[in-house]
Amino acid sequence: MTELHPVEWLGDKVRWINTLKIPWEEEYIETKDYERVAIAIERMEIRGAPAIGVAAAFGVALAALYSGARDVEGLKGDIRRALERLSRTRPTAVNLFWALNRMGRVLEEDYSDTEELRRAIIKEAVRIFEEDVKVNKAIGRVGNEIIEDGDTILTHCNAGALATAGYGTALGVIRAAWESGKKIKVIATETRPVLQGARLTVWELVKEGIPVTLITDNMVGYVMSKGLVNKVIVGADRVLRTGHVINKIGTYTIAVLANRHGVPFYSAAPISTVDLETPVEKVVIEERNPDEVRRVLGKLLITVPDVPVLNPAFDITPPELVEGIITEKGIARKPFEETLTKLVKG
Ligand code: MRU
Repeated sequence: MTELHPVEWLGDKVRWINTLKIPWEEEYIETKDYERVAIAIERMEIRGAPAIGVAAAFGVALAALYSGARDVEGLKGDIRRALERLSRTRPTAVNLFWALNRMGRVLEEDYSDTEELRRAIIKEAVRIFEEDVKVNKAIGRVGNEIIEDGDTILTHCNAGALATAGYGTALGVIRAAWESGKKIKVIATETRPVLQGARLTVWELVKEGIPVTLITDNMVGYVMSKGLVNKVIVGADRVLRTGHVINKIGTYTIAVLANRHGVPFYSAAPISTVDLETPVEKVVIEERNPDEVRRVLGKLLITVPDVPVLNPAFDITPPELVEGIITEKGIARKPFEETLTKLVKG
């Protein structure tokens, strides 16, 4: 089947698949305006840690391409404004800041004219995209080592092609295992309130013929207590040097249950998701619009209007509950401080 790339650079514009419309419709949106890319990230038309990093890099490329600046300093100023705007779209996934830092470093060089700088910016954005697809395939190969024929793997949210430049991280491992001939099955949690599991993960797996069963988030304890799950593999929005895994809200609950039932819990994430700098207490957990909880997908009201709501988009799983972090460079295991630092710097 043709590879799915949810965000792409078309030479003079950015195109993405609007993940808010999946599974009902495959709507593609194109723009030449970086502000529209920023809005797409905020609205979650584009979502998932690596995908928002790639989209932001393409946004910077648009800012460079369509800036009216006549000299290099003016162009650098316009690019810096785009970097700043795009950095305010979502606070938790570190890939966004990682990608914007890489784009910002391009500005540190000297350029003889604006065209040379434009070319360098676009080249870096395309490189970030291409590297992400390669890295995800490598995560798949590395992760496949821990998958046994017949495994049933529980995953949460969507860490698939739709969350990356292509192939996926947690779903990359699942894809690699399936492609290598292992007869695996997947249990996908629906992932309230935005339903990335029910809408996106199920859609991706059904498209590829990988057996998937959907459960609601509150069924995880039941399926584990019945011995229906051998492994948990989720993605990550940020992995700290200590091994804390910041991922979609509900991940921590799953990790606690996995620990209670002796099911190994893994996170699959590229090295670009590892944040060696930020201490756990400084991680900003995005709080989203309360209506995501009060209503189903912005429509049906399922509670009393205006009831106070908590809507953190992510939670933090402590390292003691994590069996391993599957990266493109190998699997980091405890003590994470040592193994992750080695993988990142190695
Ligand atoms: O709010 P989202 O949909 O952007 O959250 C996505 C997740 O939590 C994913 O699990 C994570 O970004 C890993 S994607 C490879």
